[in-house]
Amino acid sequence: MPQLGDATRGRVLFGGDYNPEQWPEETWHEDVRLMKDAGVNSVTLGVFSWAKLEPEPGAREFGWLDRLMDLMHESGIGVVLATPTSSPPPWLGRLHPETLPRDADGRIEWWGGRQHFSHSSAVYRRHAAAITEALAARYAGHPALTMWHINNEYCTFDYGDEAAVAFRRWLRARYGTLDALNSAWGTAFWSQGYDTWDGVLPPRHAHYLNNPTHVLDFRRFTSDMLLECYTAERDIVRRHTPHLPVTTNFMPLWVGQDGWRWAEEEDVVSVDLYPDPRDPLGAQSAALVQDLTRSQARGPWMLMEQAAGPVNWRGVNHPKPRGLNRLWSLQAVARGADAVCYFQWRQSRQGAEKFHSGMLSHAGERGRTFQEVKQLGAELARIGGEVTGTHIPADIAILHDWNAWWAGAQDGRLSTEVDHPEVVRAWHRALWESHLTTDFAHPEHDLSAYELVVVPQLYLLTDTAIDNLLAYVRGGGTLVCGFLTGIADEDDRVRPGGMDDRLRDLFGIRTLHEWWPLDPGETVECEGFRGTLWSEEIEPEDGAADEAIPYKGGELDGLAAVLRKGRAWYVSTLPEPYALRALLARAAAEAGVRPVLEGLPAGVEAVRRGDLLFLLNHGREPVTVEVPGNYDDLLTSTPVEHELTLGRYGVAVLRP
Ligand code: GAL
Repeated sequence: MPQLGDATRGRVLFGGDYNPEQWPEETWHEDVRLMKDAGVNSVTLGVFSWAKLEPEPGAREFGWLDRLMDLMHESGIGVVLATPTSSPPPWLGRLHPETLPRDADGRIEWWGGRQHFSHSSAVYRRHAAAITEALAARYAGHPALTMWHINNEYCTFDYGDEAAVAFRRWLRARYGTLDALNSAWGTAFWSQGYDTWDGVLPPRHAHYLNNPTHVLDFRRFTSDMLLECYTAERDIVRRHTPHLPVTTNFMPLWVGQDGWRWAEEEDVVSVDLYPDPRDPLGAQSAALVQDLTRSQARGPWMLMEQAAGPVNWRGVNHPKPRGLNRLWSLQAVARGADAVCYFQWRQSRQGAEKFHSGMLSHAGERGRTFQEVKQLGAELARIGGEVTGTHIPADIAILHDWNAWWAGAQDGRLSTEVDHPEVVRAWHRALWESHLTTDFAHPEHDLSAYELVVVPQLYLLTDTAIDNLLAYVRGGGTLVCGFLTGIADEDDRVRPGGMDDRLRDLFGIRTLHEWWPLDPGETVECEGFRGTLWSEEIEPEDGAADEAIPYKGGELDGLAAVLRKGRAWYVSTLPEPYALRALLARAAAEAGVRPVLEGLPAGVEAVRRGDLLFLLNHGREPVTVEVPGNYDDLLTSTPVEHELTLGRYGVAVLRP
């Protein structure tokens, strides 16, 4: 199978989405001059070009793209060619309204924005396949082509009639019989029993709460249907260019599809990453997504999109202060990215994203953004040969499963304050702040390579996943689990006792009497720390626990907040950050896992990649860091002996 390395060939790919169809051709030459100046070696063409390529049904306007592909080749810039299928031209919706998706209220999502396609529409799929085939046939042998990018951020739901037919087909394949579906969905509740497949619809707007398993299956179905759209296009381009890698991009903690399943179908796993420059935890939430993406990729991955300055979709959109773009880009490289790319090359003057930054902003080449991009391009060129293709060692895995997130987010839950991504962020943060490098894994993956496995929250766990966790601990692994884990089976049926009995046995819990969610801002005293978000009334098995940290005061006074039985920990609340950090650092130390470096100043991140040691100062004040031994800093080509000072947002890439 082709890999990212086939496209990078020892360089970090640097560039971004390039939308030259928005500009007169004179501008293209100016673009190339500036791209070369900035060290851009890769552009993604065509993401939103369908109407330009096929201005009316069946027409083919490839001349402009031919000229661009040639221009890129002459300039030594590789092309990641996108299939333009995420934004169909207006004629498709006008002539074939059935290609337009409907929301849960039955409203049509019209053309005029983007992503207005129904994954289930046979007509959409036919047209998408035809334009993909034409592109692949035309450019298969073009020397500029390095990779394929299919569609863009697949995320469209469809509750319409054609989707309903496809949903029934998907459900039949999953359940076989209506009886099995009725049982899985628990339709005895509220008189929902289906007597015919034709009665089953997408979970459209209903008077009161929709059936949660129905909603969960619809999410699974949507992910699978979008995946079918992806694989259909992937197979077309693969037929023409079996030697070139294929990818698609996501924001995994926004409208995620089932990322583990999707990753199996991609040659390169890509991600779009837009942390808020004002968020004090922006670097940490980026690190989380980087760790997740690397784990999906099982190796180097592609930062497909980031912003050189502000985005334009938050309430208030802040620019990146001087140095931050460089810092966050090198952070991605430290955590396994072999491609650092942006949305987009040249900031648009028109359209919905004209206030979204580009590598070349409205300020032009003298602007600070471009000057910083240029510096970064030069630095990536300097380190590319040493970093690309190398791996990041991690002894800890955080378990994550989109199915568990979707199920846990159902409308009728006990607390809307519990936000799955936020809980995962809190746990990852605790490890990140302790300089413990983490992978992510699916709960059914082989975990035996890890010394420590942590489960921030997996509301839904299959029997296979539970067996996997038990086998992991039995095999000598240390497991730390957070609350609301193992509550439901894969059909979202609550496990008898409110939590799987094998897990209760693992943690030494006899009875889980009640869940006690906390109000926003409310805390619960525990011995040595405060809990937030959630608490539980649990009764340990007599004498089973090796350790119990109690709640103090209130209804739960004296009951266990944290339990440990052997190497299995259960944490029934969300400890305040310092306490969760201490707890996980202790579990890691007891499992024999050491931080990347001891004694690092606050705000400094350390990551080992291959033989290299990356040090990143996320603070605005200079810091001095002690490092064991002698190194060369690849960014400055200076020797480092035992210590170095990192300036504001400073980075060092040290080779022993
Ligand atoms: C991404 C998208 C890009 C652009 C960007 C703006 O979600 O893939 O096309 O819209 O956001 O931040």
